[in-house]
Amino acid sequence: MTQLTILRYPDSRLHTVAKPVAAVDARIQRLVSDMFETMYEAAGIGLAASQVDVHERLVVIDVSEKRDEPLVLINPEITWASEETRLGEEGCLSVPGIYDGVERSIAIKLKALGLDGQLQTLEVEGMLAVCIQHEMDHLIGKVFVEYLSPLKRNRIKTKLIKQKKDEERDGER
Ligand code: NI
Repeated sequence: MTQLTILRYPDSRLHTVAKPVAAVDARIQRLVSDMFETMYEAAGIGLAASQVDVHERLVVIDVSEKRDEPLVLINPEITWASEETRLGEEGCLSVPGIYDGVERSIAIKLKALGLDGQLQTLEVEGMLAVCIQHEMDHLIGKVFVEYLSPLKRNRIKTKLIKQKKDEERDGER
């Protein structure tokens, strides 16, 4: 397994719209295991392929406490979303250190292929439902900070650009 590099906002590649996965083959299986390794190492609960610069409709998720309930969603499609929404705090491995409120449906139904290539239907709520909506946004090139006000978003952008410059400068020493 290989740890992958996670793109960081405001990297323009994060705004690429992903294409469907054409076949659940050995390449996809390798990608999924690398993505899980990358996500667990970064202590995240979800990672979209878009975040590791692979623009195909694929996400990995594990919202369990023990980090032992891996979920793979290939070509996911939301078929129903509750009208009832809730404002919850979100973070993102591509936007390190930033947490802010996003309004999401509290329950969703979806269909997706599993790693075995079989179509599965899911009905989920709570943190898992929020996480799936967040990750699926990545697949259409949307990062959660885009739900925030332009003012907040610009502050985050400035902060992350500065953070990256500082890291690069420290790396040169
Ligand atoms: Ni994210």
